[in-house]
Amino acid sequence: MKFFVDTADVKEIRELNDLGLLDGVTTNPSLILKSGRKIAEVTKEICDIVDGPVSAEVTATEYSEMMKEAKVLAKIADNVCIKVPLTLDGLKACKDIRSDGRMVNVTLCFSANQALLAAKAGASFISPFIGRIDDMGTDGMELIEEIKTIYDNYGFQTEILAASIRTVNHVKMAALIGAHVATVPPATLKALVKHPLTDKGLEQFLADWAKTGQSIGS
Ligand code: G3P
Repeated sequence: MKFFVDTADVKEIRELNDLGLLDGVTTNPSLILKSGRKIAEVTKEICDIVDGPVSAEVTATEYSEMMKEAKVLAKIADNVCIKVPLTLDGLKACKDIRSDGRMVNVTLCFSANQALLAAKAGASFISPFIGRIDDMGTDGMELIEEIKTIYDNYGFQTEILAASIRTVNHVKMAALIGAHVATVPPATLKALVKHPLTDKGLEQFLADWAKTGQSIGS
């Protein structure tokens, strides 16, 4: 499973990239707002840090305007993946941006039929929003399962990018189902390493080691 980090915070991205954990980055207008930075400037900086796909989202809702914005975003760096919303205009833009050879992430997916349309439009990634479905009182993971089944049935190449991840359990469930990518907030990504028995075991080993009076390498 590939890990993308869902943030436009350059400091967090650099730290996670240095740990060797990052395969890509996703941003959206809300995350750009949170960063307090200009989209072109912050996206360029992220693309210089991370080799993998960096999703940057168009904000136009009409096809020809989306295409204009996509061209501007694509000029930032070769690894910019254009993010478009799951609308008819977005799907049309997806098809045309893909035929120019650029990666496209179709976002705001809340149904299996929407995911089917994105795959038919040639999307590189489909982003089902797990957490926001859970917020409605239904199970976001069921959507990941449905999309996986449909894509496997027809051999679609579109990668399932589990988004709106809020918990470490979301990451585990998405991995068990076989989502290709999880885009995870920085804190949740770092929380994946945590286990109380790891901490307890390490504490015991260090205490016992101190009692031996030894040191390794000196
Ligand atoms: O990148 C989009 C997605 O991950 C948003 O997550 O927590 O705002 O629903 P959230």
